[in-house]
Amino acid sequence: MIESATDRDLPEIRALLERLQLPLAGVDEHLTTMLVAREGGRVVGTAGLELYAGGALLRSVAVEPYKQGKQLGHQLTDAALHLATAHGVNAVFLLTTTAERFFPRFGFEQIDREQVPPSVRASVEFQSACPASAIVMRKQLQ
Ligand SMILES: CC(C)(COP(=O)(O)OP(=O)(O)OC[C@H]1O[C@@H](n2cnc3c(N)ncnc32)[C@H](O)[C@@H]1OP(=O)(O)O)[C@@H](O)C(=O)NCCC(=O)NCCS
Repeated sequence: MIESATDRDLPEIRALLERLQLPLAGVDEHLTTMLVAREGGRVVGTAGLELYAGGALLRSVAVEPYKQGKQLGHQLTDAALHLATAHGVNAVFLLTTTAERFFPRFGFEQIDREQVPPSVRASVEFQSACPASAIVMRKQLQ
């Protein structure tokens, strides 16, 4: 049910992120490490990973509203963390304005922006897509 996204998923991914008011910038460039949850051929959830020299950025964790509260967000986040481990990533970072109480259960803790490696901080999400007030979190993998 959770698998890698393909080019054909892009319109549905973008529409889902738009509906949930999450940033679209950078999604196309990182499609190979985007995961999607499908139901009946439709994309009902996403979780994206952007890989950088200093760590990975977890972004676009999103579940179609009618599917929320059924563990899909958990499964997508777990799958993205497994993908990060498979890529040998040592730390995963994220920015959020809406879900800072969702991620601690996966081992994410709030940190200062200055603690984020420059390669991750240079991402579109950090530079422009997310407001400066967004909370930054990190999960150490190794
Ligand atoms: C955050 C989100 C991905 C969670 O997905 P989900 O499938 O509803 O979550 P799950 O069913 O796996 O987990 C439900 C648990 O998470 C909690 N939860 C869900 N959304 C939350 C949020 N925004 N903040 C804090 N906790 C949240 C629920 O209260 C529930 O807690 P419980 O297990 O103690 O009862 C989903 O609500 C969503 O798409 N939100 C809008 C987009 C968004 O804000 N994404 C985060 C971007 S960084």
